[in-house]
Amino acid sequence: MAPHPPARSEQLNLDSQIGHRLQLRQLDAPQIPRHRLCEQGLPGDLAYQLVHDHLMLDGNARLNLATFVGTWMEPEARRLMEECADKNMIDKDEYPQTAELEERCLRILADLWHAPDPAAAVGTSTTGSSEGCMLGGLVLKWRWRQRRLAAGLEASRPNLVMGANTQICWDKFCAYFDVEPRLVPLEAGRLQLNAAEAIQRCDANTIGVVGIVGSTFDGSYEPIDAISSALDALQERTGLNIEIHVDAASGGFVAPFNSPDWAWDFRLPRVVSINTSGHKYGGVLPGVGWVLWRNGEVLPQELRFNVNYLGGEMPTIGMNFSRPGAQVVGQYFNFLHLGREGYCQRMASLEAIACHMADNLAAMAPLQLVSHPRGQLPVFALELDPAITTWTVFHLSDLLRSRGWQVPAYTLPANQEHRAVLRIVVRAGFSHDMADQLLADIERNLAWLSTVAAPLPPAPSDGNFRH
Ligand SMILES: Cc1ncc(COP(=O)(O)O)c(C=O)c1O
Repeated sequence: MAPHPPARSEQLNLDSQIGHRLQLRQLDAPQIPRHRLCEQGLPGDLAYQLVHDHLMLDGNARLNLATFVGTWMEPEARRLMEECADKNMIDKDEYPQTAELEERCLRILADLWHAPDPAAAVGTSTTGSSEGCMLGGLVLKWRWRQRRLAAGLEASRPNLVMGANTQICWDKFCAYFDVEPRLVPLEAGRLQLNAAEAIQRCDANTIGVVGIVGSTFDGSYEPIDAISSALDALQERTGLNIEIHVDAASGGFVAPFNSPDWAWDFRLPRVVSINTSGHKYGGVLPGVGWVLWRNGEVLPQELRFNVNYLGGEMPTIGMNFSRPGAQVVGQYFNFLHLGREGYCQRMASLEAIACHMADNLAAMAPLQLVSHPRGQLPVFALELDPAITTWTVFHLSDLLRSRGWQVPAYTLPANQEHRAVLRIVVRAGFSHDMADQLLADIERNLAWLSTVAAPLPPAPSDGNFRH
C-alpha cells in the first residue's frame, strides 16, 4: 500500500537556505503559522522567496488551455499596468485621466456593438463578466417589475429564460436576486439555446432571455437574431414584450471581428444590454469586464448612482466600489495598439490555430469533435467514441497534465450530463508551434491508451463521471 503523505505541520518549514540567510543577518528564525498571523514577520526578500517557491507548483498559465482568461499581454501593456497598479478605478476625481480612458473604452465598445448612438449608451467597467451579468440581469428584473406595477399587476414571481449551458454566474444571479431560472435542457445535436425552446418557456413573468455569444461549454454562438425574431412574433401574438441580455463574455471581442455581418448586438432593438470580459478575448490580464445598455433610458434611475466628476454627470453602476484601474488602462492600450485591423488579425489567427487543432484531432480516433471553431469562438470540445470503455477523457486530461498542458475534462450540463468532453480554448499567446506540440503529445498519449486492455481505475481528475 502506498504510504500516506506526511501530515503538513501547522508551522511553515523555513528551509535551511532561508534559515541560513536569517542567521547571516543575526535574526532568529521566526515561527510562521500556516493559518494564523505570525507574531514576527520575515524580511521582505525572504518572504518573497518563500511565497515565490510556494507558487512554483501552480500550472504554467501559458499552457493553460482550460481558461478563457488572458494569460499574455505585450510587455508595454504590462509596463503601463504596473505603473497603474496603485490606482483605484473608483477614485475618479483623483484619477480623472484613468476615468477618461474608461469612458473611451465604453464608447469604443458601444460603437463596436452598433449602439444606435454610441454617445448615448451607458455602461461601466466591472471586475469581470459575472458582475456585468448581475447588473444586466438586475436591470431586466427592474424593468419587468416597473412594467408590471404600472399595469397594476403583481410582480413577485420573476423568471429568466436561458440555456442549461449558461455559465454559473447566471445561477448565482437567480439565487442572489430571487429569480426563477428557466433552463432549456440540451439535446444530443443541440448544446445551446434555440428560439423555439426559449419561446416555449416565456410568459408574463419572464424578465428577459439571456443569449450567449459564445457558449462556455463548446464555444458556439447562440442564435441571438433568431431568438429576437421569435420574441418579436411572440409580442405580436400575445403582447408580451420580452427583452434580451447578451452574455458576450467571450464573443463580445470575437464576433465583431470574425462575424461582422451577423447581427447579434444592439442592431437588434430587443437587445437591451451586453456584457463582455475584457480579460478574455479583450486581451487583458484578469480582471476587467464591461456591461453596456443601449441607451440611458433603459437603465432605471434607481440603479444609477450619479456623481459629478470631470465637469459632467457620470453614472456609477458597478457593484464593487474599489477596483483596480490598471486593467482598464490595459484595455485601452489594446484598443490603441491593435485597432480594428489588429483585433481582426488576432481573431483570424486564433481561429486558424483552433481549426487546425480541431481538424487534426478529429482525425485522431477515437476522438470525436463535439463542436468546431469555424466562425465561432476559437474554442472547441471533443469526446470519445462511446465504444471506448477502458479509459475516459479524464485519463487523457491527466496524462496531458503530466507534460504541463492543462486541458480540462468535464461533463456536459442538464440532459447531456452522461457525456464527458475535453475542451480546448485557444487564446492570444498560444502559437501554431505550441498547437503542434500539443497535437503530438495527444497523439502519443492516445497511442499509449490504445494499448490499455482492461478498464483503468478512475482518473484523479474524474469527479463523478463513470461509463
Ligand atoms: C458565457 C460566460 N459568461 C460569464 C462568464 C463569467 O465571466 P468572468 O469570469 O469574467 O466573471 C464566463 C466565464 O467563462 C462565460 O464564459
